[in-house]
Amino acid sequence: MTRCKFLLALILAAASSTSALAQSPIVLKFSHVVASDTPKGKGAERFKELAEKYTKGRVKVELYPNSVLYKDKEELEALQLGSVQMLAPSLAKFGALGIKEFELFDLPYIFPTRDVLYRVTEGPIGKSLFNKLEPKGIVGLAYWDNGFKVMSSNRPMRVPADFNGMRMRIQSSKVLEAQMRALGAIPQAMAFSEVFRALQNGAVDGTENPPSNLYTMKMHEVQKHVTLSNHGYLGYAVIANKKFWEGLPPEVRVQLQQAMKDSTKYANAIAQQENDRALDAVRKSGMTTVHVLTPQQKAEWRRVLLPVQKQMAERIGGDVISAVNKEAAALGSR
Ligand code: LMR
Repeated sequence: MTRCKFLLALILAAASSTSALAQSPIVLKFSHVVASDTPKGKGAERFKELAEKYTKGRVKVELYPNSVLYKDKEELEALQLGSVQMLAPSLAKFGALGIKEFELFDLPYIFPTRDVLYRVTEGPIGKSLFNKLEPKGIVGLAYWDNGFKVMSSNRPMRVPADFNGMRMRIQSSKVLEAQMRALGAIPQAMAFSEVFRALQNGAVDGTENPPSNLYTMKMHEVQKHVTLSNHGYLGYAVIANKKFWEGLPPEVRVQLQQAMKDSTKYANAIAQQENDRALDAVRKSGMTTVHVLTPQQKAEWRRVLLPVQKQMAERIGGDVISAVNKEAAALGSR
């Protein structure tokens, strides 16, 4: 988009976002890229229910799941322009905004347990990452959980050598690029909405995601093998357009903050069970062989993937990585 077109769009959006606030009810468009029957989809539905309840209808939340309104690449720009008021992008997708530190969450084995994850998202590291959003016209509202990722493709993946030469779809993250290269695979960044078709027509050989995304996007129908590697984490930042959020009547903002707090608790409480349910459905489908790694194979994956943490220290901040590893050690998880 040329500079003057972007400026014009900015002016129009600013007008529309202020007019949005003048509307009655205030319309809050919440766009995301996954199916409704996922942790993020259900979290968004719970936020809608509570936001409309707590504001007594002063706010109307319009949900746009499954990339129906904006795809990966477009959604962050649409939020900055005020064409949409809320998103919940994967933490792997903030590099596009120039905030590479969010790729901390993509590092292999950085979170041995959810306890370590919550220490990060609910502590100073999570807060400092949200502070980096403000100059981009974005407010960070909450961190929503999904889960640990599995690998899928059309050949068994038991040891790293099995990935040699495979074209693996990733989210647009330099850390995930480094992860796939460490396995000997060829990383291909691609919007989530395009993954099923790319797997179906062989444009890529495989991908990674928590089971809830794999199953709800029917990837098991075009992937003969899944390995329960849990090699990395996928979660979300729920974010709002700063001008819209700060322009809300104060009492409405407080009510929406409470709706966000309660829907966050709900979304994080259901995440693991949603992934367990999806994995069970994949197994029951009989279309995919689910591989469990032996301790020796797990050790081999760690040997190959752990160096990515050091390799990416300059990009993400070595001090942040050591802080997370210290948290893990303090919780006895390392
Ligand atoms: C992906 O692109 O694989 C995920 O970010 C989709 C999502 O938002 O869970």
